[in-house]
Amino acid sequence: MSTVRHFLADDDLSTDEQREVLELALRLKADRFAERPLAGPRSVAIIFDKPTLRTQVSFTAGISELGGYPMLVDGGLARIGVRESVPDVARVLGRQVAAIVWRTYEQSRIEEMAEHAGVPVVNALTDDYHPCQGLADLLTIAEHTGGLAPSGPALAGRSLAYVGDGANNMAHTYLLAGARAGMDVRVGAPDGYRPAPGIVARAEEIAAGTGGRVTITGSAQEAVQGVTAVVTDTWVSMGHEEQAAERETPFLPYRLDADLLAHAAPEAVVLHCLPAYRGKEITAEVLDGPRSVVWDEAENRLHAQKAILTWLLTRR
Ligand code: NVA
Repeated sequence: MSTVRHFLADDDLSTDEQREVLELALRLKADRFAERPLAGPRSVAIIFDKPTLRTQVSFTAGISELGGYPMLVDGGLARIGVRESVPDVARVLGRQVAAIVWRTYEQSRIEEMAEHAGVPVVNALTDDYHPCQGLADLLTIAEHTGGLAPSGPALAGRSLAYVGDGANNMAHTYLLAGARAGMDVRVGAPDGYRPAPGIVARAEEIAAGTGGRVTITGSAQEAVQGVTAVVTDTWVSMGHEEQAAERETPFLPYRLDADLLAHAAPEAVVLHCLPAYRGKEITAEVLDGPRSVVWDEAENRLHAQKAILTWLLTRR
């Protein structure tokens, strides 16, 4: 019997597996109903402990398109870990659904869910990672910068700069997913908001095997210099709302505006996982400008998530 696989962090997929999933996503984008691994319909539980728009919409649409039933479980009612333990919830759900998609806080919560569920568990954002967004972003970069590599690391030769809150889930995801894809990944972030050292070390280790590169710098300009893709994210992630005021000043030099973008390659694309705060981490001119591919990126959540679910449910 094959072991159940999960997608809890970007590096849960090997280099070849990541490329396979991205290829499948492109195939599903071209032929939307090509895979029906949830025909029955089998149910997938989708649970949110934090706010959502894109993730709820894309998983709901995607699970339906895969022939399944998207079962929204209200995290506010379930209060997982308060009313009952994570393992008890995992055991109950695992008896009834084909997979579990969960947006929550600590990474340890989703790891515990995976340990006890007996069905694939997919991370729909935790404090540490947002790997579904990572896949969607790699797909978007591939589409706009010459496609996926036919073999080996999916985006070899391409580069990505993330500027802003280097300690958040998106920064960590870009480090792991980008290194896995063989990219030159740079994070430009202020002191006190740098990526977790353990995750940087892991990204460096992955990059050593894929031909990628990892750079952490305090200079937004240095990070962006000549890159293929420039990305940013909110300065105030979900769960940090009470720090909104103190998070303003340190990030001002990292705002993605036309001046900063001018340091990137002339054909560079701009990504943002959304929601975006125009005039804060990104200017309206850049977000709504000709280099922005954020609407493709948002759509690609659907295709990427259908691909990872299909891959997890059908692999042997
Ligand atoms: N870093 C953001 C991503 C939102 C999709 C957050 O965690 O709120």
